[in-house]
Amino acid sequence: MKKLAAGNWKMNGTAAALAEVEALLAAHPAPACEMLLCPPATLIAQMAQAARGSALMVGGQDCHPKASGAHTGDISAAMLKDAGASHVILGHSERRADHGETDALVRAKAEAVIGAGLMAVVCIGETEAERDGGQTLTVIGGQLDGSVPAGATAATLVVAYEPVWAIGTGRTPTLTEIGEVHAFLRDRLRGLVGGEADGVRLLYGGSVKPSNAAEIFAVPHVDGALVGGASLKAADFGAIVAALSA
Ligand code: PGA
Repeated sequence: MKKLAAGNWKMNGTAAALAEVEALLAAHPAPACEMLLCPPATLIAQMAQAARGSALMVGGQDCHPKASGAHTGDISAAMLKDAGASHVILGHSERRADHGETDALVRAKAEAVIGAGLMAVVCIGETEAERDGGQTLTVIGGQLDGSVPAGATAATLVVAYEPVWAIGTGRTPTLTEIGEVHAFLRDRLRGLVGGEADGVRLLYGGSVKPSNAAEIFAVPHVDGALVGGASLKAADFGAIVAALSA
């Protein structure tokens, strides 16, 4: 399977930041891995335009489960697609924490994304208290069961394991801990989507940077990364793309 380097710009970036996209594409015109950037919704159309004909795919960071209607401020999967998105991140821990998103809502959103013909990047991860309490596998197993739509396939689903305590902190789990979680997720996914589980990309996310990317990508069942802070600069994200392409 082709590995996936996915960047999540979160609430960062105006049109001036598209210079980073030009620099990224100039440095990595044909990487061996897939490359995805998820900018704020305001930049999706412009980034898709800048990425036209290149190896870069563009995605959204969230969407509404419904296709249209009276939902002020929300965006539907079809709208993201219309703007040029091919993927949508769903259930990021910041959405779960800031907006009270539940597994059921994340699954409804993922169903909407897949229904619109896009790929769902479903995020799960334990808090520090849950890790310290020995609850990691129980928590992420429950999130996976509750968030992944029935009938998802390797062509419609990506799963990102992001320990909440590793996001934006510079801290990461040990390679052994990452390996334990990813092997667990592969196995658990088999119970949910059968043989498709072997082709679903399992991304690790949380303080991935150029200096730790190669060792994390060498862990079995790590099929790429979801990168926050280090995806904002072409040089950093490019180094991660290069590590995944090695
Ligand atoms: P980070 O964020 O790389 O800045 O830790 C990861 C994420 O939230 O996707």
